[in-house]
This record gives sequence, structure tokens and C-alpha cells, in this order.
Amino acid sequence: MSIFLGVNIDHIATLRQARGTKYPSIVEAANICEESGADSITLHLREDRRHIQDHDVLELKSKLKTKMNLEMAATDEMLIFASKVLPEDCCLVPEKRQELTTEGGLDVFSQLSRIKEVCGELKSNDIKASLFIDADKHQIDAAVECNAPIIEIHTGHYADCKNKIDSNKELNRIIEACEYANSLGLQVNAGHGLTLENTGNIAKIDSVVELNIGHSIISRALFVGLANATSEMKDLIREARGL
Ligand code: PXP
Repeated sequence: MSIFLGVNIDHIATLRQARGTKYPSIVEAANICEESGADSITLHLREDRRHIQDHDVLELKSKLKTKMNLEMAATDEMLIFASKVLPEDCCLVPEKRQELTTEGGLDVFSQLSRIKEVCGELKSNDIKASLFIDADKHQIDAAVECNAPIIEIHTGHYADCKNKIDSNKELNRIIEACEYANSLGLQVNAGHGLTLENTGNIAKIDSVVELNIGHSIISRALFVGLANATSEMKDLIREARGL
């Protein structure tokens, strides 16, 4: 089965916001990624607007050649914004103001009625909801309950493992979760903390449709350029899948 690469371009904006300049251009970056193998562009409009700004999302939507996966918190403000932009996919993530990055999966299980309502709102705008969750059966069951068509399995805990035993344990947990979600008819994506070193094992999981990768690709771009960093990752995931 095919495997797709979504490149998260948040940190192009991090660089721009550090100086309040007009460069580097988000649109140019996204287009280079697309020309180099990205199948979609992911971006996270955070409540604190620390990197991506509202105008970036609006401008990108009209200039993308692939599709947009907009990550956002399940708030009314973001829902209104999404209904204006109409990204193809909307990935619902938990958000804490002080965190460096998204630290854990969304707890769909304990906010079932709210997340179900948000998924319904997105669907009414023809936007596919994707729920960013931990590799946990209860959360997967809750995603089904919410009628979400897509889940994205949080790979951050796997990426953070400090030794082989822990990382194999996490990997097995992810494999089981992906297979379970797939058997329930969900589209399974995965992402967070993925690098050239740890992505192969995730790409090998047959039920995974799309990987969303940002920080490591943008960091690698400093040394090899954004086009090479993107195509290198695309080649790696396709090779791992035997394509
Ligand atoms: N997927 C989701 C839902 C995320 O929130 C992020 C980080 O914004 C990513 C993927 C990409 O993570 P990383 O930058 O660690 O590759």
C-alpha cells in the first residue's frame, strides 16, 4: 500500500517570527516541499500564534498544489477559522500554552461529546477530522464514537525512548494500535518526533497511510537544503514500505 508524507512547516515560521521579518517565505517553503515529494502540507495554528499566523494559513490555502492539514485545538475560535479556510484535513490536537511542542495525544475519551460535535461541524464543511491520539484502544474506540474518519497516532513517546527495550515496547504498542484502528475502518496516520533514524520502523507498518514530519526535516534542511531534506525522507519511507 502507498505511504504519504505530510511536511509540517511550522518551524519555517518559527525562524521568521524570531526576528519579525518577512522571510523565510512560508509559501515558498511549502512549494519546495511539494515539488520534492511532500503529499501534503501540515501547519499548526496555535492559540498563542508563536509560529504560524492566520494570514499564513489563508495565503497558503490558495497557493498549495497538494492539500492542507491544519492542526488546531478544538476551540470555537479555531472552528470558525477552519470554516473560513476550508483545509482538506483538520487535525485536532491538545494545546497547553507553556509546552514546547504538543506533548501528548488528545484525550478524546473524556471529552467525547465535545469532540464528536467538532467532528460533525468539520464534516458539515467537508473537512476531514483527524484526531491526534496516543496508541491506546480506549482513545481509538472514542475516535470511532466521534465519527472521525482519520486518527494520527502520536509517535512522540516512541521517539523519546532512550534504549532499545523501551523503544521496541513503544513500537509494538503503536503497531497494535494501528492494526486495531485499521480494522475499525479508520484511516491511520502517525507523527511527532520522527527522524531519519526512527521513521523506518513506523513506515513499515502497513496500515499507516500518512506520516506527518516537521522538526527533523526543517533542521536537516539547514545542511542539505529543504528539497533534499524532503526527498530524502520521502525516499526513506517508501523504501521502508518496500515501494
Ligand atoms: N503531528 C502532529 C499532530 C503535531 O502536532 C506535530 C508537531 O506540530 C507533528 C506531527 C510534527 O512533529 P515533529 O515536528 O516532531 O516532526
